[in-house]
Amino acid sequence: MAESKAILELQTKAPDELTSEEKIVRIGQLAERASICVACGLSRTRSHVVFGEGNPNAPLMLIGEGPGQNEDSTGRPFVGRSGVLLDECLKENGITRKHVYLANVIRCRACVMENGRLQNRPPTPEETKACAPWLDQTIQLVQPRVILCLGAPSAASIIHKGFKMTQERGQWFESRYARYAMAAWHPAYILRLQGEAYEAARRDLVNDIANARLKVISAKKEPKMTLF
Ligand code: URA
Repeated sequence: MAESKAILELQTKAPDELTSEEKIVRIGQLAERASICVACGLSRTRSHVVFGEGNPNAPLMLIGEGPGQNEDSTGRPFVGRSGVLLDECLKENGITRKHVYLANVIRCRACVMENGRLQNRPPTPEETKACAPWLDQTIQLVQPRVILCLGAPSAASIIHKGFKMTQERGQWFESRYARYAMAAWHPAYILRLQGEAYEAARRDLVNDIANARLKVISAKKEPKMTLF
């Protein structure tokens, strides 16, 4: 009886009233619900729902586009070559995955059969829409002070539609998801570049993460805003 009262209380508490431990429980419950999601056709081809990982109490949340092959087969975000590059750029700022929460706009791999092989493809607007409640609920629970969007699809979902990476990357925006949101190059994009272009884009990502870290420090001095 006392146990079911405690469970009910936990479910009905507003995210900003949750203790750190309660947030961890609630995010685990959300991930469990997401693991059986059939809101779109990607549920038929996925191996795993890639919910997200890291510290649900982190003030900084990083949001990518969607899982690729490695993520689909492990159920973890950013574990392929993009993830290695992302981890390196975080490390250059003294940040590990334990300091941030990492998620994607869509939680299941979007792919298409080409020349007998499954290739990643951008999610359709319908798939993105079907997945939006998971993103909304994750951000509502984590309540990050700062969001760093990795790539244009993430920035289009979090910051504004039609986001232009070449013009708007590295600038701060207010979003309904967090008081401070910025977009950085997606690591997969950086990996497609070569030579000086690669070096410059990698430097941009390191610098954008550094700026996001500084923004967290200054934002922590401000009262927390409820955005939902
Ligand atoms: N690219 C993404 O956007 N997300 C991942 O989790 C991996 C690669």
